[in-house]
Amino acid sequence: MLGNFKYHNPTKLYFGEDSLKYLKRELDSYGKKILLTYGGGSIKTNGIYESVVSVLKECNKEIIELSGVPANPTVEKLYEGAALARENNVDLILAVGGGSVIDYAKGVSVSAFCEEDPWTKYYLNQGNPDKGLRIVPVGCILTMVGTGSEMNGGSVITNHEQKLKIGKVFGSEVMPKFTILNPLYTFSVPQRQMVAGIFDIMSHLMEQYFSNEDDNTTDYIAEGLMRSLISSSLKAVEDNHNYEARSNIMWCATWALNTLLKMGKSGDWEVHMIGQAMGAVTDATHGMTLASVSLPYYKHIMNDGLHKFVRFAKAVWEVNGAGKSDVEIANEGLNKLEEWMKTIGVCLHSSELGVTEENIDDIVKGTFLLNGGYRTLTAEEVKQILRESM
Ligand code: NZQ
Ligand code: ZN
Repeated sequence: MLGNFKYHNPTKLYFGEDSLKYLKRELDSYGKKILLTYGGGSIKTNGIYESVVSVLKECNKEIIELSGVPANPTVEKLYEGAALARENNVDLILAVGGGSVIDYAKGVSVSAFCEEDPWTKYYLNQGNPDKGLRIVPVGCILTMVGTGSEMNGGSVITNHEQKLKIGKVFGSEVMPKFTILNPLYTFSVPQRQMVAGIFDIMSHLMEQYFSNEDDNTTDYIAEGLMRSLISSSLKAVEDNHNYEARSNIMWCATWALNTLLKMGKSGDWEVHMIGQAMGAVTDATHGMTLASVSLPYYKHIMNDGLHKFVRFAKAVWEVNGAGKSDVEIANEGLNKLEEWMKTIGVCLHSSELGVTEENIDDIVKGTFLLNGGYRTLTAEEVKQILRESM
């Protein structure tokens, strides 16, 4: 393991079909006023809202509702939530939803009592909360699997006017205090959304895997998670009520992006940068934006990190390397990745997500170029990859 690091993850997890019963115990640690935030209403049709509200009532909490958090939460919604949290002087933000609702809750937690404009301070300028700022604690009940937001400090906000979608990774003081992970809550997620989440998990694993040259324990953990994800995803697309598969996918998602796998690694993250820029312009589903650019991107950088693509092919996709050149083995691995993507049914063409010749320059402009992977792209290369992705 290279580098010097501290490892600390403060999020407490409750996992399993009975996990909601621990909510009461957690609520006891907070004051009376709970900001209950959720998305467009799926929790009302699948019964999760009712279950959560009945626990809040049992605990004699005062509920302040903040609904309508959109998928890919916007800066306007962030301002609305921050004002509501401040005016009501809330004690806890309880986020019930997927990555969008949880990311949003973290954004609200650091914006409620912030004197400056939170978009500029935290997202555009990547600043941290000032010392002494009151940060409202966040608790989560996860209903859609993929982002890992339930156990990390990430918060991604979209500013459509500025055509930017920016993620800020906050420190442990902003990470959820607790998260309830009930695989049954994910059964009502539409199939397309489920597979977008599955690809998001795979992408988080690959982004962190395809970097560095050393023999690193983290890469072996990532390979194990990828194998588990591939196996469970194939079962879940056949039967999305397969509890074993859905629960494995939920656990994979959390560990794929809960700060563990970045230890001792630089990480690539260029696929996410292109995907987020695409999202800012098209508002497309996060996991699908990643799926549409991954193959063109990895084919583009394959020769720069050839040894790792060979390892990926053998360790993750069980490619038999006998009698083959490294390039052949690496290509076979990417072909297997493509085959799997087709089988689970993710989007392979960004044109289906709204990318056109007319908006491609805006996407290139909104793509941050990072240097943690095997090759640092130029803007021209991003454009080429986007064209190939269409
Ligand atoms: O709005 P509701 O009604 O909740 O419906 C949602 C939404 O339409 C629906 N859904 C969620 N749970 C459901 C359900 N429908 C039926 N039954 C359920 N149980 O699913 C749709 C998508 O939800 P969303 O939260 O947007 O999906 P996801 O979890 O993929 O989150 C995407 C956001 O997370 C950011 C993305 O950029 C995007 O903005 N990310 C956050 C990261 C982080 N915090 O570390 C990292 C990721 O790479 C990602 O960038
Ligand atoms: Zn992602």
